[in-house]
Amino acid sequence: MKLQLAIDELNLKEALEVLERVHSYVDIIEVGTPFLIDAGREAVRQIKENYPEVEVLCDAKIMDAGEYEAQLAYDAGADYVTVLGITDDLTIKGCVEQARKQGRQVMVDLICVPDFARRVPVLESLGVDVIAVHTGVDQQHAGRTPLEDLQELKQYAKKTQIAVAGGINSETVGEYVALEPDIVIVGSGILNAADPVEAAKTIKAALK
Ligand code: 5RP
Ligand code: MG
Repeated sequence: MKLQLAIDELNLKEALEVLERVHSYVDIIEVGTPFLIDAGREAVRQIKENYPEVEVLCDAKIMDAGEYEAQLAYDAGADYVTVLGITDDLTIKGCVEQARKQGRQVMVDLICVPDFARRVPVLESLGVDVIAVHTGVDQQHAGRTPLEDLQELKQYAKKTQIAVAGGINSETVGEYVALEPDIVIVGSGILNAADPVEAAKTIKAALK
């Protein structure tokens, strides 16, 4: 089970500083969507340059122009790019085609997808690598968690890796681990913890 650290609210300097302290506990470093808006692909470039042995995910949440936007992420050094599951199949297909050309991976974010039973088999047929259930920050503020979505995704995903994101922390990680996802994504649960190194260490230990 991999730990993906989502960096969302830091600038590039702060991100590089915190990664110095926590990278040894992390399998995938996510350049989160707000971080990408703030720092651009330079963030992907510099993180990959500093940590070539760690996988890097660009959380671009692609909604259109799949092949071109995926190419931008991969060219900067991303091992994975995200595309929204709710978008058109052609966009997802474009991301997958670009991933296959470059030997990289596509993670689909199911945020706001209403019907997993219908959508997940289609996503699998398009050849995506990872499907993630994700309770977004705004939904988290309304009290939602991704636990039930993860249970549901487990029923429908037959051949694709599974990831889970949305407010997971060192106290709740065990509930998710019990459902055996392939990737656990944690952002604020590490970076907003009183001691980010201790939080990363505890969460990583829970995944083993
Ligand atoms: C928000 C995101 C975040 O990266 C994801 O939700 C993980 O962060 P957190 O653990 O703080 O929820 O993509 O859209
Ligand atoms: Mg993210």
